[in-house]
Parts: sequence; C-alpha cells; structure tokens
Amino acid sequence: MSLVGIASFLLLLVGLSQSVPPSFSVDFKNDCFRKDGEKFRYISGSIHYSRIPRVYWKDRLLKMYMAGLNAIQTYIPWNFHEESPGRYNFSGDRDLEHFLQLAQDIGLLVILRPGPYICAEWDMGGLPAWLLHKKDIVLRSSDPDYIAAVDSWMSKLLPMMKPFLYQNGGPIITVQVENEYGSYFKCDYNYLRHLTKLMRSYLGEETVLFTTDGASLGFLKCGTIQGIYTTVDFGPGSNVSAAFSVQRHAEPQGPLVNSEYYTGWLDHWGSPHSAVSAKKVAVTLNEILAMGANVNLYMFIGGTNFGYWNGANSPFAAQPTSYDYNAPLTEAGDLTEKYFAIREVIRMYRKIPEGLIPPSSPKFAYGAVKMQQLQTVSEALETISFSGPVESIFPQTFIDLNQAFGYVLYRTELPVDCSIPTPLASPLNGVHDRAYVSVDGVAAGILERNKVISINVTGKAGSQVDILVENMGRINYGRDINDFKGLVTNLTLGNVVLKGWTMYSLSIDQAIDQGLFWATKPTSAGPIRPAALSLPAFYGGAFMIPDGIPDLPQDTYIHLSNWRKGQVWINGFNLGRYWPSRGPQLTLFVPANILSTDTPNNVTVLELEMAPCLLGSCTVEFTTTPILNASVQSDHQQHWPMFGKALL
Ligand SMILES: *[C@@H]1O[C@H](CO)[C@@H](O)[C@H](O)[C@H]1NC(C)=O
Ligand SMILES: *[C@@H]1O[C@H](CO)[C@@H](O)[C@H](O)[C@H]1NC(C)=O
Ligand SMILES: *[C@@H]1O[C@H](CO)[C@@H](O)[C@H](O)[C@H]1NC(C)=O
Ligand SMILES: *[C@@H]1O[C@H](CO)[C@@H](O)[C@H](O)[C@H]1NC(C)=O
Ligand SMILES: *[C@@H]1O[C@H](CO)[C@@H](O)[C@H](O)[C@H]1NC(C)=O
Ligand SMILES: *[C@@H]1O[C@H](CO)[C@@H](O)[C@H](O)[C@H]1NC(C)=O
Repeated sequence: MSLVGIASFLLLLVGLSQSVPPSFSVDFKNDCFRKDGEKFRYISGSIHYSRIPRVYWKDRLLKMYMAGLNAIQTYIPWNFHEESPGRYNFSGDRDLEHFLQLAQDIGLLVILRPGPYICAEWDMGGLPAWLLHKKDIVLRSSDPDYIAAVDSWMSKLLPMMKPFLYQNGGPIITVQVENEYGSYFKCDYNYLRHLTKLMRSYLGEETVLFTTDGASLGFLKCGTIQGIYTTVDFGPGSNVSAAFSVQRHAEPQGPLVNSEYYTGWLDHWGSPHSAVSAKKVAVTLNEILAMGANVNLYMFIGGTNFGYWNGANSPFAAQPTSYDYNAPLTEAGDLTEKYFAIREVIRMYRKIPEGLIPPSSPKFAYGAVKMQQLQTVSEALETISFSGPVESIFPQTFIDLNQAFGYVLYRTELPVDCSIPTPLASPLNGVHDRAYVSVDGVAAGILERNKVISINVTGKAGSQVDILVENMGRINYGRDINDFKGLVTNLTLGNVVLKGWTMYSLSIDQAIDQGLFWATKPTSAGPIRPAALSLPAFYGGAFMIPDGIPDLPQDTYIHLSNWRKGQVWINGFNLGRYWPSRGPQLTLFVPANILSTDTPNNVTVLELEMAPCLLGSCTVEFTTTPILNASVQSDHQQHWPMFGKALL
C-alpha cells in the first residue's frame, strides 16, 4: 500500500468509527456547503414559532418536512422573550428550545436568525420597546446603551442556543448576523463587527455565520462584513442569475444562497391583499434550484400576529393580524395548491419523504354568538388601570408611562368654552397611532396618525375630554423604528396648547384574564344615529361547544362583520385586532387550543368606534372560511410594491 493508500484507509476507518464529530461548513473551493464532509444544499422554509400556538408546531413542521424541505429558518423576536429588562420568558408558546427540539426530531435542520433586529413585520422589528427609555437611542448601531442591552440579551440567548448547534449534536447549521443591515441608514461597521465578535465568542469560531441583504450592490455595501458569509434575498419573477451575480460580487466563491425567496407578500390595513400565484412561485424556484443554489422560502407558513405583535411600515401603515402571507401553508396550517406546486418542484431535485402528509385541520362553524354591552372604557377605568392615574402638565408617551402595548386613556378638560366647533388638533402629527376622542361622555371623533390631525369639538369650559390612544404596532423597517406611542407631541384646542393631563395605563389583558368585566352590569347606551360613533366599550358573550359531535373543539374563524375596529379576546387569549371597515382582513383565526369543551367560552370585544349592538344586531359569528382579501375601504390608500421590501 502506498502512503496515500494508507492515509485513505485510515481516513475511512475514522469515518466508519462514528467518532467524527458532526460538522457544517462553507466549501469555498467547490461552491457549496459541506455537512459531515459531504456536499450539501438546503431547501428551507421560514416558520416563526412566535406566530403559531405551541400545540401546532409539530403539525406545521411535519408538513414542511413532507413538502421535501430539509431545513427551516426562524427568527427570534427579542421583545417576545424579554418584555421588560432582565425578565425572560421561554415557556409555553415562547419555548424556543422545545421548538428547536421538535424540528430536529422531525428531521429538519435549522437556520437561526437571532437578530437582535429581525424586521419580520413584527412590532419594532423585534426590538423591545423599553430600549426607547433612552429617548435619543440610536438603534442598530454602536450606541453604548443599545450595545449594553444587546450584550445582556445575547449573554442569555446564545449560551442557550449553543447545545443546538449542528457541531454540538443539534439542528442549527447557520446563524444570521443582524438582518438586511444594508437597508438601514446607519451603516455602522463597528456594530456589525461587535455582533460578529459576540456570536463568535458564545457560539465558537466554526459556526457558519451569514448576512442577508436585498440583491443589489447598494444593499451589500453596508450589509456585508469581512469574514461573514454574504447571502441575498429576492422573489419570484426576479432575474435569478442577475440576483446571484450580486451575491457573487461579495462572495466570488462558495454556495449560492437566497435567504428569503418570497412565496407571497405582506399586507397592510387599507391596502389590497397581496397574492402571488403558485405557478409564478414554482417557476422561479425551479430556476433557483436548477442553478444548484440553496434557498429559503419566506414564508412557508406565516401564522398570526396575535395580541399586539404586528409591526408597521413607514409612512405609517400597520400590518393586519393575519400573517397568512399567501404562503404555501395558510395561516391555519392548511395545505394549498402552492404547497403541492412547490413540492413538485422540489421533487425534481431531492427525494421527497414517503408517507402521508398531515391533512388540513377541520374547521367548525360555532355560529352566531350573542353579545351584550359591558362597560365603556371610561366607566371601567378603575378596574382596568392597575397602576392608577399619572398626572402631568403635558402628555407623556406610553414608554414614559412604562406601558409597551395596547391602549392608554388621556384625560383633560376643555380650557375654554367651545360653543362653535373648534379644532382639537395634533399639529405635529403626534397621535401615535389612533385616538378616540369624547367630550363629556359623547364620542366626538377620531384622530389618526398621518391621516386625520384635526377634528372639531364643542363643549363648555371644564368639560371632560377623554382620549383613548391605541398603539397600532411599531414600525419595523427603515429609519423610523424609534416609534414612540401615545400622544407624542402636544394637542391644541384652537390656538391653545392643552395642559393638565391625567393618564391611565390600561391593563386590559390582565383585567380580562381575571374576568373583571363579567361582574359589571350592562349600561344603557341610549339612541344612536347610524354611522355615528359610540364610546369605546367592552362587549361580552359566551358560547358552548356542542355535545355529541366528535373531535371538537376544532379551529374556527371569528367574523365581526358589522363591527368597526377593535380588539378581541377568547377565554382571555388576545386574538388580535379586527378592522373590517378598513380591510382587507375580515376574519380572525381562532385556534382550537384556546377553546374549552366543559365551560362556556367567553368572548370579549373592545369596540373602539361603533358596535352593531347599538343598532339592533349584537352578534359575532364563528365560521369555517377565512376572508383575508376583501376590498379595502380607505380614502388614503397606499400601494406598497410587491417584493419591494427594500424600497419601503
Ligand atoms: C410566558 O409566556 C407564556 C406564553 O405566552 C405565557 O403563557 C406565560 O404566562 C408567560 N409567563 C410569564 C411569567 O409571563
Ligand atoms: C438576466 O440578467 C443577465 C445578467 O446577469 C442578463 O444577461 C440576462 O439577459 C437577463 N435576463 C433577462 C430575461 O432579463
Ligand atoms: C371645523 O369647524 C370649522 C368652523 O368652526 C369649519 O370651518 C371646518 O370645516 C370644520 N372642520 C371639520 C374637519 O369639520
Ligand atoms: C408641549 O408644549 C410645551 C410648552 O410649549 C413644551 O415645553 C413641551 O416641550 C411640548 N411637549 C412636546 C412633547 O412637544
Ligand atoms: C367564562 O367565564 C365564566 C364566568 O366567569 C367562567 O365560569 C368560565 O370558566 C369561563 N370560561 C373559560 C373557558 O375560561
Ligand atoms: C378572495 O379569495 C378567495 C379564495 O381564494 C377567492 O375565491 C375570492 O374570489 C377572492 N375575492 C376577492 C375579492 O379577490
């Protein structure tokens, strides 16, 4: 045996002995990834555990596996896990480790995107709102206060992720540094270098780190950094070879990677629903795979912005509750034509697992549920303002009041008689984001960021002015992510700056959780003119799951067709916002796991504008069919470019 022969024989022995630790790396010479020494290409799909109830994680992951994917990609929303500084939550629906373990058990590798900034159409791009306690903080930069918070978060998160790295026996093959940093205005290389050092120090030198940016040289300029593998993102209909040639500009050698291949697109309230045909998605996917490239389909399943988690774009346009994304698996995890079209493309490049694809889950129409008015927000103040009122001369923001999400009530008085209609205005456009104004208990109008900065009011000097301000979700993209909420500038009445505010932080979720509204008697609403406004108020109803039908409870959709705008909870679980009067989303996904078979299911609605109850019909309806694509009602319709994330 020659020396070379002996060496190969020894290598073979080592290979057989199982003692070779798992490895994952970039093979620059052969333009590919290498997994355990073998050439490797991933076909991945995005799934955000924060948008899917934990009980459904396994079902969704299994469907992804059965589509022929060998990896998933997920974001970690920092603000989902550290809602206040140093208080971490990784349990229940936030149990990231359980999610990673499930992926591995099913046979899926993981591409991890821990941010700290994630965009994702998620409140503030995943950054915790409490960072804004430093008013002039420069987010996503070397600002020392920002860095200190990032360091502290990563010192919690990354050691937790380390055992899940591929080389440590886990599913994580690659880790992204920041997210599309080249689309941000700061271009702070020291910040990227700091993150890189941080990740290397916790995850080790051998972990494959990468960046992702839009496929144009302009984005790579500030998005890429020496020593971190550069990838790009682009959607169907793109010139694939041109897009990858942009990646090649930064990485002359190594695997081609599209980290976000768009299967659909995001929506905004007041803009038409985005839809991309299955055929279009399949055609470009085929081109990508034919080039031998790696790809991640964004999203493979979008899920739901439960509670207050949706983000917004700038100029201000909030994203709706559904994050269906027109993805191959629907918001409810159902199989679509697009799922099968994608699977057929993947089948040409990779062996598809045998066996049954888990079916779409059955939906049940629980029907109409009668609602009754409970208290108005103003009446319920004692019950729902846990921390009590705060007084100040000029209005304070949500963050000043230590409140991250939801609603704050601002109360003051008319300083002068307004016997003729007088403008109540936010001259600096500082209503973030929508304000429901009443004078002496009568609804007077709505102020809306960028849209309505002045309304007329009448009333006597000393009349009580209640302004319920809704945080509709923080901007998640671009330079406006320092998105303060509440009344962020002064309001004026005529030429006078309004002073002497009493502000109530509202703990509505906790109050509902404790069943506080159910002890209260309904108030009589008095006659209401159709199309007029009513006071923001709570409404309640309950329904039983019928007996004698097998396999209940099942998923359903709640349709609030004659309601205007508000928030809805079932059994204390915050399903999110509804706004059918603006569209395009009309129904909210209700996962079966929040329903109870042995006690009445409690529906609580906070209607901000006008409840149908005051006009005769007072029901919400549970149906089997989602409606996400209704025509939109907006005088100020904006047209957002498809796949034009970088342009937004
Ligand atoms: C942590 O998050 C889970 C899931 O949202 C929630 O059920 C639980 O109450 C939270 N725990 C704490 C201590 O806030
Ligand atoms: C795609 O881009 C390449 C340059 O990278 C160009 O040569 C080709 O003509 C383009 N194809 C189409 C269909 O525009
Ligand atoms: C407000 O009232 C004034 C008269 O006082 C009137 O000129 C103006 O059009 C009104 N504005 C609105 C928005 O109704
Ligand atoms: C409100 O007006 C007062 C007096 O003009 C000013 O001192 C204060 O800075 C203003 N507040 C905001 C948030 O603009
Ligand atoms: C609904 O509210 C009633 C009355 O407070 C309570 O008895 C019941 O347990 C609640 N149902 C659920 C599923 O929490
Ligand atoms: C909405 O989507 C449904 C189901 O995909 C489709 O049948 C319907 O025609 C669409 N409606 C509108 C207004 O686009």
